[in-house]
Amino acid sequence: MPIDMIVNGEAKQSAADPMTPLVDVLRDEFHLTGAKPVCREGFCGACTVLVDGEPRAACLTPAGLAQGREIGTVEGLSAGGRLNPVQASLVEHDAVQCGMCFPGMVVTLTHFLAQTPRPSRDQVRAALTGNACRCTGYERIVAAALDVAGA
Ligand code: FES
Ligand code: FES
Repeated sequence: MPIDMIVNGEAKQSAADPMTPLVDVLRDEFHLTGAKPVCREGFCGACTVLVDGEPRAACLTPAGLAQGREIGTVEGLSAGGRLNPVQASLVEHDAVQCGMCFPGMVVTLTHFLAQTPRPSRDQVRAALTGNACRCTGYERIVAAALDVAGA
């Protein structure tokens, strides 16, 4: 039975087995390659997407659980091809190194700053505990997030 979901505001249908990881459906069927399947174990955060507005590891989310839900990927966060404030600040702070972690970082930080517009440094650091940067660029990432918040 096909799986119906809304992805970045668009109705999509997948023919995948319901146990297929959502990250694979997004990438292989819908050609949304922002979310990265890096660890596939739920701890690096590179595959983070929004499921009904909440950040989730798409590597551990079976596609069947997306049935009838709204999925948001990093591609949906730059309306009209323009960087959102989080993305622009990360670029401004020269925070991007290899870039592998950044789709997840952007999804997590965009969601976090919408919920917590004036965070402390510790709150930003806590928000990023599920997003690993193997290039260890955390200081610049935190600084970029605080700049967006005007802290
Ligand atoms: S690939 Fe999903 S958390 Fe690492
Ligand atoms: S920039 Fe390389 S993993 Fe974060």
